[in-house]
Amino acid sequence: MLATTLRRTTAAAARLNTTRCFASAPVDFDHFSSGWEKDSSEYQTEGKFHIETFNKISPLGLARFPSKNYEVKEDWENNNAHAILLRSHKLQESEVDVSVRAIARCGAGTNNVPVARMSELGIPVFNTPGANANAVKELVICGLFLGSRRLIAGINHMTQLGEQGLQKERVEKDKSMFGGREIAGKTLAIIGMGHIGAATAREASALGMKTVGYDPALSIESALKLPREISIADSISSAVAEADYISLNIPYIKGEGGTHGIIGKDVLSHMKNDAVVLNFARGELVDSDAMKEYLDAGDGRYISDFPDDLLWNHKNAILLPHLGASTEEAEETAAAMAADTIQAYLEHGTIQNSVNFPAAALPERKEGSIRVTVATQNVPGMLAYISDVFAKHGINILQQINTSRGDLAYNVIDVELGADTIDLKDLQKELTMHDGVLSSRILFGVAGAGYARNIEGSYFV
Ligand SMILES: NC(=O)c1ccc[n+]([C@@H]2O[C@H](COP(=O)([O-])OP(=O)(O)OC[C@H]3O[C@@H](n4cnc5c(N)ncnc54)[C@H](O)[C@@H]3O)[C@@H](O)[C@H]2O)c1
Repeated sequence: MLATTLRRTTAAAARLNTTRCFASAPVDFDHFSSGWEKDSSEYQTEGKFHIETFNKISPLGLARFPSKNYEVKEDWENNNAHAILLRSHKLQESEVDVSVRAIARCGAGTNNVPVARMSELGIPVFNTPGANANAVKELVICGLFLGSRRLIAGINHMTQLGEQGLQKERVEKDKSMFGGREIAGKTLAIIGMGHIGAATAREASALGMKTVGYDPALSIESALKLPREISIADSISSAVAEADYISLNIPYIKGEGGTHGIIGKDVLSHMKNDAVVLNFARGELVDSDAMKEYLDAGDGRYISDFPDDLLWNHKNAILLPHLGASTEEAEETAAAMAADTIQAYLEHGTIQNSVNFPAAALPERKEGSIRVTVATQNVPGMLAYISDVFAKHGINILQQINTSRGDLAYNVIDVELGADTIDLKDLQKELTMHDGVLSSRILFGVAGAGYARNIEGSYFV
């Protein structure tokens, strides 16, 4: 290996008069600032990725960023954040610095992020699916007991007796009002066997329940988590037919073919008249009028984590104030997952758990190679163009992937350096300033360097 002198033109770079042992050939790398026309020595924290946080993010999650090459703070006064981490803050496009490469939401929903606009700008948006699954699963299990043992009515009764000083006198006599049933040996139908549904099935099975599941788009990852004994139904109606308990764990999707009111008259007519419906997914999945009819007619129960204007005071309904994911651990897990996802993207170009970019992961790059990532519109000719640019610069491609999703395509390319000096600055400009290319990154040198954007024909580095 030869020593490589990195020549930099920015003031900040001048301070980094670094000699590096890197590749088999000299690399003329002049791409430090990664910010639009900023050349202040204060502009960049040397060799660190800048993480901007909105909301209070769990310290456990933030601790995932090693301080050696990450700096995390709320406000980057020079508008030079490299990635954003947020929870519920409603992010505006104006808050996304031109230097931002990625956004991660600690949680599942991303409707507080302008995802469509970020896609147009070539910025991946990540979320943390499943991070709160354990918290929700535990509450579903709690729901099984709430629906079986008249616990809430019993607790309320004890409070009233206590207020009258009658607890000891009345408790043995009154307890017969609050009898219940055991869950062992009963059947639980699980509608939707994703992160929460699969975990619930496993737990219920361990508690001695029979399980039946329905999920027409079951993922391999979830299938591997299911208990071996689970039987698979081919419709919601057949799943619920023999069930004593039904757990809804599907997303709420509006519109035709969606899941609005999916638990309505038809599905309810297939249920046993004393079944317990556990809704820890979304209130809108259940048709309240049909559920009221069902509860009025038999001895069924409805346990839900959501408000309901019609059922809130029904004697056979228990409504909780959306507590499913409200645990410290769920927040910590989400923050840690978001931090890991951002790191994998910043350091390796890996895309996992993105809501707008295609998944992408190349094996670790060979020592002495450089990784380049290019986000483009999903239009013909992009891949050929990228390959041509490398060929023109005499650079050999060692491995590459090209994946696409909707209007976006994403390329990860590992290149080998030849004998001649290459000018990555020119190469990056050429790669980026082509119609249809949105952004490019050269994963090389100090953290935070090598990012360029093509914003409607203007070059931002
Ligand atoms: N109560 C809470 O606080 C809370 C917290 C987190 C999630 N949730 C809700 O729980 C839902 C499930 O969460 P998850 O993390 O398990 O999601 P997930 O995406 O991992 O799993 C959802 C599963 O439902 C399946 N599915 C979709 N439509 C279906 C249908 N019509 N019939 C049967 N299966 C269907 C999918 O194939 C997928 O496997 C979320 O969509 C959300 O609405 C609630």
